[in-house]
Formats: sequence, structure tokens, C-alpha cells
Amino acid sequence: MTVPDRHDPRTVGDATWAVHGGNAVDAGSGAIRTPIIMANAYALPDDPSNLDWSNPDRLLYTRTTGANQQALEAKLAAMDGGEAAAVFASGVAALHGVFFCFLRSGDHAVISDVAYEATWRLFTELLPAKYGIEATFVDTSDLDAVRAALRPNTRLIHTEAIANPTTRVADVAELAVIAHAVGALLSVDSTFSPPPLYRPLADGADLTVHSLTKYINGHGDAMGGAVIGSAEHVAILRHDALTDVGGVISPFNAWLITRGSVTLPLRLTQHQANAQRVAEFLAADPRVAYVEYPGLPSHGQHELAVRQFGGRGFGGMLAFALDGDGELQNRFVARLRVITSAVSLGHDESLIVHVGPTGRGGWERYPEHFQRYGHLRLSVGLEDADDLVADLRQALDAVRPV
Ligand SMILES: Cc1ncc(COP(=O)(O)O)c(C=O)c1O
Repeated sequence: MTVPDRHDPRTVGDATWAVHGGNAVDAGSGAIRTPIIMANAYALPDDPSNLDWSNPDRLLYTRTTGANQQALEAKLAAMDGGEAAAVFASGVAALHGVFFCFLRSGDHAVISDVAYEATWRLFTELLPAKYGIEATFVDTSDLDAVRAALRPNTRLIHTEAIANPTTRVADVAELAVIAHAVGALLSVDSTFSPPPLYRPLADGADLTVHSLTKYINGHGDAMGGAVIGSAEHVAILRHDALTDVGGVISPFNAWLITRGSVTLPLRLTQHQANAQRVAEFLAADPRVAYVEYPGLPSHGQHELAVRQFGGRGFGGMLAFALDGDGELQNRFVARLRVITSAVSLGHDESLIVHVGPTGRGGWERYPEHFQRYGHLRLSVGLEDADDLVADLRQALDAVRPV
């Protein structure tokens, strides 16, 4: 029998690692929680003249690395089953780090056509115009379309495991085979499906990206991003995207996220149970035009989601709309008394955002029913499921009496 050691993630379960990973007794004070170290510089050795100032493994200067960053990185790498992790100031800084480090001028990338808005804008406008990087946008759940999009200079396939906002599920194992056959990398934004729900690296992805701002922190009070992968890939990210581009996370935010992630496995269980209940409630109401949630049998990739996520759940994100126009969606949201109208997701509180045709780039890339009704992106929180259902019901009744 393996002796469980809270400092060795290979010997303990997900919940034990979530509690103890990234935490250590402070040698100076004896405090049993890792302190926040806000200093931006560390003591030099007696002879610093030959130091590599860009060595991202050495505590010298917080743009290169810091004690709280290192603690969070060690925790996340083990949580996601990677050799190493690099943490960034935001999820977008992490995404940019991947694209900046692993693509160069003249390269081509295959990108999910429903990827997060900043990814979309990076590949439609900024990266082609500034760096000459080409991109083809495809439905990454259509593997033939992905194969057809490949070019001799394709170096990266990028998708979201569960897409924001459509909740479309990507078949990561198949995409990894397709990418590797042409010598490309597969990066997977798994913000909607954090561990232990899903670990894309185990299905062959090369890089997993998270917005830590969302589920991993979970409390809506800090921004951060992470990339997890092999030691070799993460060293490139640290060296090029952190030390020399500088999108570093504040030590305080790294500490907050380390603390927030303690309850991640527990929170996910509750998010998912609540989301399933809310999705079933909405799907059964004729006033609702559509509900997209991977846990519903009606979802386009429900079977894939069951297989890929191994019965660990389907996340906490829903997309739906009432049968009506944008004005009706707004009135409905205004009536909610428990659910908050705000962007972001994966917080303790439920958040809803109404996205309409003029509010988001590349509207035409969304499915026809999204375009017709708009969509309400609902991040189902940790409140009592009864309260969430009652809140949605009273708001529905207010705008569309039965
Ligand atoms: C799937 C996904 N990836 C990346 C991001 C960007 O993260 P951040 O807001 O931390 O920069 C978001 C933000 O909503 C997201 O939903």
C-alpha cells in the first residue's frame, strides 16, 4: 500500500492535493500556511556577477518568478497531470503566451471557430497583422473539417474542451492524433472544465490553458492564467512570455488563487449538480427556446462528454435563451433576484450575461439558434439549487406569464 504523503501528489487523491498542494510550513515563522511574499526582489548571493538574470527558476526578481507563483505553479502542474506550469496575470496573458511562444511568422494555426472572444480577435486581427501568422477557423468537433484545414505550415491546433459560450465539446484525444501526425501542437483551453473534471494532457494535448480567474480561484476576487505542459514547453513560456514580455501575476493574486483552489473539487461537485438541475428545469419550460448544456442528452456532444469526462460531470456553464427578442432577454435578466448580471464565470455566486448580436465579435460564427435569439450565458453558482430554480421561474413568470 502506498503511504500517502501530502507533499507528493502521486500518493494522494484530488481533494487531499487540493488542500495541501502549494502550501508549506513557513521556515521563518513556523506559520502553517504559506505567507504572501510581496517583495519584488530577493537577496543575491555573495558573487552575483555571473548570474543569469533571466533564469525563471531562480528567485531573483518577481517578473521572472516569485515564491507565491512557484507555489501555485507546483500545485497546478500536479492537479492537471503536467510536468510544469507557468502562471500569468490573466487567462488572456496565458493564451497570448502560448500563441507568442509556439507560433512564428509564416506559421498557420487551426483555431476553434467558437473560441473565447480574445482568442478570436488575436487570430482574426492582431497575430496576422502584426506577425504574419495565418489561422483557419473550424468547428473542432468536426474532425474532417479539422483535417481539411491543415496546411504544411500548420504548427498549432487550439480549441476549448467545452467552448465559451456555446458549450460545444471538443474530442481532445482525436485532435491530438491529428495535430501530432503533422508535427503540430495541440493546446486546449480548459477554463470551463478544470481538474479534476478534466485533464486534457491525459488525452494527448500538449498544453492546457486556464483562466484561473474562473473556477480555479472560484471566489471572483483575483485574475490569473496558467499554462500546464511538459517541462520543456513551460521553460519556453517562462523565459519568453514571462521574463521578456512580462505578463506576470501579482504574488497576492497567486496566493489568493492558491487559497481559492483548496475547495475546487468540492465546489465543482456542487456547481455541476446545480447546473444539471437548472439545465433540466429550463429545458422543460416551453418559454425557453433552447438550452445548451453537455449534461443534457439533447446536447450535440453529450455522448462524447460522457466518455471524455469519464462520468466526473459536465461543468457548470449553460447557454440558453427565452423564446423572444433581445428586449425580452433583458427584461428577464433584470427580474432575477438571486442570480447576478455580470461577466466572468466559475465564481461562488451565479452569474448571467446577455450577449446579443452587436455585443460580440464574429457573431456569424455562432449556431443559427444563438443568432436568432441571442444567448444568456449562465455560470451556475453554489447557491441552493431550489433558490436558483425559483429565481429563474419567478423571472420567467414575470416576463412571460403562463
Ligand atoms: C474560455 C476562456 N478562456 C480565457 C478567458 C480569459 O481569461 P481572463 O479573463 O482571466 O483573461 C476566458 C474569460 O472569460 C474564458 O472564458
